[in-house]
Amino acid sequence: MSIGVQAAPSRGARVIPFMRLLARHPRAAVRAFETAGRQADGELVRLGMGPFRPYLVTHPDHVQHVLRANQANYVRQGMFWDPLAPLLGEAILSDGPVWAASRRILQPLFTARHIASLAGRMAGLVTELIEATVRPGRPFDVLDGMSRIVHPVIVRLFFGDKITHADIARLMPAYHDGVTATSIRLVLPFVPQGFPLPGDRRFRRAIATIDGVVYPRIRAARSTGQDGTDVLSALCRALEADSRSDADQPWQDEERWLRDNLVSMHGASTETTATALSWIWPILQQHPQVAERLYAEVDRVVGGDPVGPEHLPELRYLSRVVSELLRLYPPGWMLPRLALEDDVIDGVRVPAGATVVISPFLSHRLPRFWEDPLRFDPDRFTGEREERRHRYAYFPFGGGPHQCLGSHLFLMEAQLLIAAIVSRYRAVVHADGPLTPQLASSLRPRKGLTMTLIPRERT
Ligand code: HEM
Repeated sequence: MSIGVQAAPSRGARVIPFMRLLARHPRAAVRAFETAGRQADGELVRLGMGPFRPYLVTHPDHVQHVLRANQANYVRQGMFWDPLAPLLGEAILSDGPVWAASRRILQPLFTARHIASLAGRMAGLVTELIEATVRPGRPFDVLDGMSRIVHPVIVRLFFGDKITHADIARLMPAYHDGVTATSIRLVLPFVPQGFPLPGDRRFRRAIATIDGVVYPRIRAARSTGQDGTDVLSALCRALEADSRSDADQPWQDEERWLRDNLVSMHGASTETTATALSWIWPILQQHPQVAERLYAEVDRVVGGDPVGPEHLPELRYLSRVVSELLRLYPPGWMLPRLALEDDVIDGVRVPAGATVVISPFLSHRLPRFWEDPLRFDPDRFTGEREERRHRYAYFPFGGGPHQCLGSHLFLMEAQLLIAAIVSRYRAVVHADGPLTPQLASSLRPRKGLTMTLIPRERT
């Protein structure tokens, strides 16, 4: 299969009538999206959405081309990113020189080695927060419960003492509103930004709340010296170093750049992690054999002790369960890009200005690359089966220069949190019928899914 810009004749892409699929699944856009993926079967197609027809890229060779080989041509702008721009601004989640400078500064805080050095503190925080938030025997909302644990853990470790408990209580619902209020624009991306849609007012209120918390914290941090290993300290130190050199800064307004990075980092780290960890409980309930193996492993490795860094290397089945969870329910289910110049991918013309949608959710379900793709099977992630796989058949954390900064952080937090809960409680999810994911900026279980943690008896 040949990829890339070619002199050979190119063709237009087949169009899948996406609006018709949406009309068939009015309450579950994810089903329409899944059907489109099945119909495309790895071919580069367009999704017919009225006048708007984004290109859908799912074949691993094509994904590699867009995310890595010719990534400079595919930027994070356009109809899917624009609605989120007032929230995220121009920083680590954008593109160009401001993104590059932000990435250079933030990357050292998230290397595998640095994250491993935080394992002990993270384990302590996870245990403490589970105790503080869970009332055994009482049902709670799954996503809300996971957020109440995940949010403070990440904030304590990466935002230091700069963001207080009271701040977190205001930020959590505001972030939730920020990402869900724009969901409608994800499925109606051709509606102009200026045209009002339900959720717009909630979105603006969310931004005002977030700014009301973040700006005063930034000003306070800048007025004192910053020597911590948290995100805001690293950004402030970089600003100071830059002000001492003659180098031109790519950003226009320092305070706004700090705000945009802080908000982007906070959003990218907490929302995705809490969503991913909400899926584990219904999945374990639906797959008793997986649950049994997982509980047995945690009992053998952790037993009645508090979970700690020393347990991580031995929790191998748990690590595979988490990988499989991210295969079927990747929170970053869609990675949209805008093509800057004409390109040809595998013989299909992609003109300048086209919107290109990559979807880990769909690529991870391609029957050509995954046997019985809808089956939840953690053993897909045993050594030799993984080695045989195309690098871009599985990419829950994206790839190329924009590859997720937080993959090591997530994988460690997921293992610690799941092991800490499983070692002490049996989780019962209150759900009947199939679990239909909700398409927001992350792929989340539907609203109102609840669970109860029942203390386990140890002999
Ligand atoms: C289950 C958890 C997570 C998933 C599935 C996930 C997924 C992703 C994906 C798919 C991308 C690529 C976006 C693109 O190409 O447009 C990304 C980027 C990013 N992620 Fe994550 N993420 C997770 C957790 C985290 C955490 C815990 C952090 C905290 C540091 C984080 C920080 C970032 C940042 C800063 C970027 C942008 C990187 C760049 O463009 O240079 N993520 N993530």
